Amino acid sequence: MLEKIQSIARKAGEMILNAHNAPSHQKEGHFNFVTDTDVAVQEYLKAALLALLPGARFFAEEQENESLTDAPTFVVDPIDGTINFMRQRNASAVSIALLEKKQPILGVIYQPYTDEMFTAALGKGAFLNGHSIHVSSVPFENAVVELGSSPYDAELARRTMEAATQFLLQAGDIRRSGSAAVDLGDIACGRGDIMFELKLRPWDVAAGSLLVKEAGGCFHSLGHDQPYYDGPCGIMACNPLCEKDALRILKEAGAC
Ligand code: IPD
Ligand code: CA
Repeated sequence: MLEKIQSIARKAGEMILNAHNAPSHQKEGHFNFVTDTDVAVQEYLKAALLALLPGARFFAEEQENESLTDAPTFVVDPIDGTINFMRQRNASAVSIALLEKKQPILGVIYQPYTDEMFTAALGKGAFLNGHSIHVSSVPFENAVVELGSSPYDAELARRTMEAATQFLLQAGDIRRSGSAAVDLGDIACGRGDIMFELKLRPWDVAAGSLLVKEAGGCFHSLGHDQPYYDGPCGIMACNPLCEKDALRILKEAGAC
């Protein structure tokens, strides 16, 4: 199954690479867009993934979704990093998770611009292009902290920047890639040490959360005891050495 999902993700990546000047449309809220390529890639993924597992449910960014159930469900972002895609910043990813009982059991993140395929299966470890990966062992004071900035919500943006200032002062440095899936891949393979964003959707994080945990990292849905995929939620992912201080800073900034 994981092999087949990888082929499907690769084909979706080719669609992204071959799309030029795709028309874009404003979505609900500030600085929120969808392009015709997001929609076309999602249609392809829906058909291909449901052919792989007939009877599964499909939960994805560019459609209306019903609530998650315990049934097998693909949770999909056809392009995570849509603004990057629109602005040709070459940092976007296809994100596909298979959930059972509302928890990810398989996760694939494919970055077509770098041809990097991140994969994870519950209890079986995390891999990048077939090689086993692990989170970093960088201590908090030297941590590279990746963040999402919540431009659509003034209060969340303010708290994000409060937390970012503290990370900047107390940890190593900060980064903003524009794709939560790319960020979570970074944490899983040790290119970054902490990632947080105060509001993400299930399709932004479902595959990446499994990847980070299978790579030996920590994943928190802020405000929940367990990883939460039923709706929007803040998240923090990190290597275990950074967990305590990262949660402390987010709490002090009123983020959890
Ligand atoms: C976005 C990216 C971005 C994050 C936003 C997400 P999209 O996903 O993951 O990094 O900050 O919150 O919505 O809209 O490009 O699929
Ligand atoms: Ca998207």
